[in-house]
Amino acid sequence: MIASRMIPKIRSGSAIRKMFEEGNRLKKIYGDDKVYDFSLGNPDLEPPKEVSDALKELADNPTPGMHGYMSNSGYESTRAAIAKKRGDEAGMEIDPGAVCMTVGAACAMNDVLHSLLDEGDEVIVLCPYFMEYNSYIENHGGKVVRVNTSDDFMPDIKAIEAAITDRTKAIIINSPNNPSGVVYPAELLSSLNDMLKSKDHVIHVISDEPYIDLVYDGMTVPPVLDYIDNLVICFSWSKSLSLPGERIGYTLVSPKNEDYEDLTQAIVYSHRTLGSVNAPAIWQKVVEKSLYAKVDVANYEKRRDLLYSNIVDAGFTAVKPNGALYIFMKTPDGLTDEEFQDICHDYNILLVPGKSFSGEGYCRLAFCVSETTIRNSREAFFAVGKKLGLN
Ligand SMILES: Cc1ncc(COP(=O)(O)O)c(C=O)c1O
Repeated sequence: MIASRMIPKIRSGSAIRKMFEEGNRLKKIYGDDKVYDFSLGNPDLEPPKEVSDALKELADNPTPGMHGYMSNSGYESTRAAIAKKRGDEAGMEIDPGAVCMTVGAACAMNDVLHSLLDEGDEVIVLCPYFMEYNSYIENHGGKVVRVNTSDDFMPDIKAIEAAITDRTKAIIINSPNNPSGVVYPAELLSSLNDMLKSKDHVIHVISDEPYIDLVYDGMTVPPVLDYIDNLVICFSWSKSLSLPGERIGYTLVSPKNEDYEDLTQAIVYSHRTLGSVNAPAIWQKVVEKSLYAKVDVANYEKRRDLLYSNIVDAGFTAVKPNGALYIFMKTPDGLTDEEFQDICHDYNILLVPGKSFSGEGYCRLAFCVSETTIRNSREAFFAVGKKLGLN
C-alpha cells in the first residue's frame, strides 16, 4: 500500500501532459502540419554552438576524475564563474559559496524550500503561476497561499501584504513569468522589498528564473539582487540554453540575505540528502564554458509576434508577453476555459486552460513550436473566432 497522501496526486495527473498526449494522437490522424499543439513549454530550439563545442572539448580532453563525486555544492570553478557573472550584473561582490549547483530549477526550489520550511509554514504564490510550486511547497510540509495579481499580471503589493501572517516564510516570484510572460519592473521589486522588510520576521523571496534570458523588444530584466535583500535565486539552463533534459541549474543566496550563513549551508545539506548529491559533473563544466551564451532569442521573438498576431487579428484578447515562451490569452466572454478549450480542440488547436495555473478566465499557448505550425494555425484561429462571432 503506497502512502495515502499520494493517492489524490497520482489520480489527478497533469492537464498539460494529457494535452501533450492528445496532441500526439491527433497528429497521427491528421498529420503533423494540421495539428496546432501549443500545450507544452518544451523548448524546441537547438542549444547554441558553445554547448556542443564545450561537450566536444571535454570528450576530447578527459581529465582524471572528471566523472567522480565532488563537493555537494558543485565545482568551485563553476560556482566562481556564476558568482562573478551575477555579481557583475548587479554591481556587487558575490562569493562562490553563495552558489550551489542543482539539477535544474525544480531541484533548486525543492532544496530551498526544504531548507526554509517548518511544518505548516506558509509560502505565497502569485496567481497565475506554475502549478508545480504546489508540490514543491507541500513536499516540505509547507502551505500554499495564493494571492491574485493585478489585471496586467503584476504583483499587487497590498494584496501580498494582506496575505502575510506569522507563518509566512517565503514568497515565490517568477519574472519573466510562466504563464503570463510579464517582466516585473525594478520599482515593483523595490516596493515588494520595502513592504517585506517592514515585517517583524524575515520573509524570503525565492526568485524562480528559468526564463531570465528569454526577453523581447530590447527589454532587460532588472537584476533582482539589486532590489531584494532576503533573496534566494533558483536559476536553470533548461530554457536559456535549451537543455531541459540535461537538468542543470543553481541556487544563489544574496549576500544581503539575513540568513545567509545558515541558508547557504542548509541548501547544500538539502541538496545532498534529498538525493541529488551533486549536479551532473559534465554539465557543470559545459555551462561554465557557455556562461555568456544563449539560444536564438530573436527566433522566439518572431514566433511570439506571429502567434500574437494570429490571436488578436482573429478577434481574441491577450497581454503581449515581454518574455518567456507563452501567451496567456483571455477566454472569450460567456465561455468557461474548458468550453473554449473544447472548441479550439475541434479546430485542432491545443491550449491549456487557466485553471492549470490558478488563472481562470485565460488559456495558455506556448510558442516554442515551429514557425510553420504557427503560420498554419492562423486559419484555425480565424475559424474559431468566426464561430464565436469575433471576426
Ligand atoms: C516557472 C517555472 N519554474 C520552474 C520550472 C522547472 O524548470 P527546470 O527544467 O529547470 O526544472 C519551469 C519549467 O517549465 C517553469 O516554467
